[in-house]
Amino acid sequence: MAASGVRLVLLGKPGAGKGTQAALLSQHYGVEHLSTGDVFRAAVAQGTSVGLEVQRYMDTGELVPDEIVIRVVDEHFAAGGPLEAGFILDGFPRTLVQAEELEQVLADHPLELVLNIEVPTEAILDRIAGRRVCVNCGASYHVNKRPTVDWTCDVCGGDVVQRDDDTEAAVATRLEVYDRQTVPIIDFYCNLGKLVAVDGVGDGDEVQERLIKEVDGRFAPGRP
Ligand code: AP5
Ligand code: MG
Ligand code: ZN
Repeated sequence: MAASGVRLVLLGKPGAGKGTQAALLSQHYGVEHLSTGDVFRAAVAQGTSVGLEVQRYMDTGELVPDEIVIRVVDEHFAAGGPLEAGFILDGFPRTLVQAEELEQVLADHPLELVLNIEVPTEAILDRIAGRRVCVNCGASYHVNKRPTVDWTCDVCGGDVVQRDDDTEAAVATRLEVYDRQTVPIIDFYCNLGKLVAVDGVGDGDEVQERLIKEVDGRFAPGRP
């Protein structure tokens, strides 16, 4: 087994727990967590040119156009990004075009596993309605699982607020867009023999154990 870290993608509907689990897994395996949603939200907050381009798509729940997403991800990997060290991708890829592009970018460092976190839509709606996120680092909380001190992020001390796209209308669009544009990549990864479905119902620690079991079960134990 190569001495590099894990290279994983987390798939799942909006609110399935990708961000929550990616943060836990990145600590567990000591690899970077890259969420394109977090990258775009930071760009919007900072008012960068990418932020200005993507905000209208995000606010309505539509996908950002592939060429913008691919440019941002390519720049990330090109700038000495974590190809060797390993990574967990969250929210990317989410179209067939993006999945095919990623296969090219990772030609010498192929993905090891794509974990599809499955949660019924009723549970999703409850999770999203109660979600609060850190404006600074993107950490995810819930009205039933708050930060230790008021609405201040446990990780970085940033403000914890409701996301602009967690409105009823935007969530309905995000779920519809997921079915239409992201579900086809489940078959794509299935055909590559990389897809594993994981039950995302239960508390966060239980889901994390299931994910780690799948990853470690396929690779040598004790890898970094
Ligand atoms: P993105 O930020 O990726 O949003 P999403 O896919 O809609 O997913 P979410 O972040 O809403 O959910 P999550 O699965 O991370 O769940 P979380 O862990 O927070 O994308 C946002 C937008 O950016 C897109 O709509 C698009 O416009 C654009 N975009 C981003 N990437 C793009 C791309 N590649 N291509 C094109 N456009 C792109 O959990 C949800 C809640 O549930 C939290 O409150 C959490 O505390 C709680 N929770 C988590 N786990 C559990 C559990 N086990 N039990 C109970 N509650 C739980
Ligand atoms: Mg997320
Ligand atoms: Zn934070």
